[in-house]
Amino acid sequence: MILIINGPNLNLLGKREPDIYGHESLKDLENLCQNWAKEYNNKAISKQSNHEGEILDWLHTAESEGFSGIVINPAAYGHSSIALRDAIAGINLPVIEVHISNIHAREEFRWHSYISAVCMATIAGLGFLGYKAAIEKLANN
Ligand code: DQA
Repeated sequence: MILIINGPNLNLLGKREPDIYGHESLKDLENLCQNWAKEYNNKAISKQSNHEGEILDWLHTAESEGFSGIVINPAAYGHSSIALRDAIAGINLPVIEVHISNIHAREEFRWHSYISAVCMATIAGLGFLGYKAAIEKLANN
């Protein structure tokens, strides 16, 4: 079972800067993740929060809740949160970082992610397909 965590402002997908993030909603993304996990004989549970502490709590409890891996789009917290990095470093599950847009082709403040160094992999710029690649990897891990 794979946990998909979407961070702040991703609840606005479809309405938010569609030229960057596309026209599909968070619900669309969550449905796709569910279908992709099924393709790999696994199950995806999606959660979204605009609250840093809530995301930390989900990371802490994921293993005891039976998850075997985590896909996280940290959104802006990736660029700002040492607490998020410490939470990922402190758990025993593989975590893959996904960004919909290519953060390296955007503003300089997006080039650095605090969590990349403690994640199994980072995927940026593939749109929603980045989640598919991450799910495939974790399902076969
Ligand atoms: C994002 C990229 C971040 O820089 C931004 O703050 C987001 C979304 C992405 O998916 O491309 O909110 O993580």
